Amino acid sequence: MTVSTPITTPFTAESTAAEVVDGLDLTGRRAVVTGGASGIGIETARALAGAGAEVTLAVRNVEAGERTAADISGTTGNKQVLVARVDLADQASVAAFAAAWDGPLHMLINNAGIMASPLMRTPEGWEMQFATNHLGHFALATRLHGALAAARGARVVSVSSTAHLRSPVVFEDIHFLERPYEPWAAYGQSKTANVLFAVEATRRWAGDGITVNAVMPGGIRTNLQRYVSDEDLARLRRQAGGSAAPSWKTPEQGAATSVLVATSPLLDGIGGRYFEDCNEASLNEPGTRRGVAAYALDPGDAALLWQVSVDTLAS
Ligand SMILES: NC(=O)c1ccc[n+]([C@@H]2O[C@H](COP(=O)([O-])OP(=O)(O)OC[C@H]3O[C@@H](n4cnc5c(N)ncnc54)[C@H](OP(=O)(O)O)[C@@H]3O)[C@@H](O)[C@H]2O)c1
Repeated sequence: MTVSTPITTPFTAESTAAEVVDGLDLTGRRAVVTGGASGIGIETARALAGAGAEVTLAVRNVEAGERTAADISGTTGNKQVLVARVDLADQASVAAFAAAWDGPLHMLINNAGIMASPLMRTPEGWEMQFATNHLGHFALATRLHGALAAARGARVVSVSSTAHLRSPVVFEDIHFLERPYEPWAAYGQSKTANVLFAVEATRRWAGDGITVNAVMPGGIRTNLQRYVSDEDLARLRRQAGGSAAPSWKTPEQGAATSVLVATSPLLDGIGGRYFEDCNEASLNEPGTRRGVAAYALDPGDAALLWQVSVDTLAS
């Protein structure tokens, strides 16, 4: 096993997306931010647009997207903030988005997600958190591979979570057909898949100049907590050895690690890694809520997940 030096940056948990991108000129670069009309997606898109990039908000609610685009254009002065419809749980919608994309794509921020939802399934029978958080983004990225390669140095950001520590990908029963459904296990599994995707996509695509990294944005009060009560969150934090009272980041701070990974020259050529608080994370120490699980970086599981994902989408 090759041991690589962790990437460190001058930025911290308190840094904002605007600070991370300060001084960078992204004019001529094109970005897609999934879920760009809510939560940290808005601030990710705003920072990229603020630095001059053309940004497409890839959203399932186009009206919310249009409102957000107008707001971002108003605050940044960048008129190149576009909106396109995509529902990541609907493969036809993902295919239509990718088919309509024309020209190079320099930054793909796979940011949209749902968390700890009650059991829901897509029409194919796929568990909804895995289908949305992983399969939808997998399909989107692989369909956009040509556009990413055309950018000659594209970056993909796979927005994961510290919740990946709750579950590896359970290949024997990804869709909870045999085991009882548990919302946090399903979320954790999908967020592990987001990291494994970064590992295998980088292995496959680095030769095309495409690097993919995973990020944990931090804890941010957004619509993501729609299925979870404050009591549930406090209980989960206590169980995981943390304090019951969360210390939330602002959305601007929550977007910083995604924006750093999408843009920083410190990450040129770097892929297949997991970042939190604007720096590469160490391996998780059992009993703590920081760092990355070894199973999420496992190259064998990463290759297996890729194949399972291809097979699932083809089924
Ligand atoms: N907030 C946190 O504390 C935290 C912590 C760790 C990781 N994360 C990760 O950060 C990312 C962003 O989360 P957030 O906190 O900004 O949450 P958010 O405010 O709920 O935003 C999530 C976005 O994903 C979109 N989305 C959900 N399902 C979709 C689908 N089927 N197709 C297209 N878009 C879909 C939502 O669209 P609608 O508005 O239409 O529902 C929303 O725009 C997620 O991947 C999440 O797992 C967040």
